[in-house]
Amino acid sequence: MNLPVAELHIHLEGTLEPEMIMSLAAKHSIELPYSSIDELRAQYEFSNLQSFLDLFYANMLVLRTREDFHEITMAYLQRAHASGVRHVELFFDPQAHVERGMDLRDVIAGIRDALGEAQDRWGISHKLIACFWRHAPASEALELLRLMIAEKHDIDGIGLDSSELGFPPELFVEVFDLARESGLHVVAHAGEEGPADYIWQALDLLKVERVDHGIRCLDDEKLVQRLVAEQMPLTVCPLSNIRLRAVVTMADHPLPSMLEAGLKVSVHSDDPAYFGGYMDANFASLMETFNFSTGQLAQLARNSFESSFIDETAKRERL
Ligand code: ADE
Ligand code: ZN
Repeated sequence: MNLPVAELHIHLEGTLEPEMIMSLAAKHSIELPYSSIDELRAQYEFSNLQSFLDLFYANMLVLRTREDFHEITMAYLQRAHASGVRHVELFFDPQAHVERGMDLRDVIAGIRDALGEAQDRWGISHKLIACFWRHAPASEALELLRLMIAEKHDIDGIGLDSSELGFPPELFVEVFDLARESGLHVVAHAGEEGPADYIWQALDLLKVERVDHGIRCLDDEKLVQRLVAEQMPLTVCPLSNIRLRAVVTMADHPLPSMLEAGLKVSVHSDDPAYFGGYMDANFASLMETFNFSTGQLAQLARNSFESSFIDETAKRERL
């Protein structure tokens, strides 16, 4: 049986499986640069974060309608349910969809409909988090966030993602100030490929409630002490780190040292359609390499719920 967990680091567009890319391209008469699924799959070899993002952004262009967003979200939730996920905090990239002319209301409505159905069907609770691109100007993120707030778009929080190196969190202070003032939750990717300093910035300048990835914190002892003292959640994605070569092999993965240091780490799947699997595959790979004890597994599962934005009563019921 799969461990019951909360999935807190999952990009909706990263659950777009090759089969769905082909079927949506056919549905919308979109010409792809690949003629078969095998040809598409042959592209899934990455040398770093950017090499993955280039393909990820190109593939998500097949998502065109509210129904498409409903379909991809439902397919993910069904898979997540089968792998033990009881609560999900789903990321999506609004700029990607607005850029090609979609109405953000259709994007969010398609996702929300599926989240509601999964709640009724499988009891999976949820939050929805809009991630802003760090490779695009902060002014663009600020403008879009202002619009989303003015038009009361139904999101629970914001995040920060995309190319990390050269795009430090300090560029996005105004965006995060506005989000917090508006009562939104705030998270940010930091310390995936970028240095420990980006994690300091995410904490001190963006005042995040969780750090996505954060594995580079181990380069800085003072930072580790602070993260432990504050029990700041770090959402770690083992298969992603291997496939994007942030870590060489699973045996080199810092998760056991992070647990040992008392960091509040939990396990997540990031972009499972690209990195070799969903929550269950991440745990299977970790178990094969580290053979975690029942106590360690329970700690990881407990951390995932405690790090979530579920309200405190519901949290206690899940633990
Ligand atoms: N967008 C989707 N996956 C990402 C990752 N692993 N890092 C940064 N941005 C992302
Ligand atoms: Zn991510």
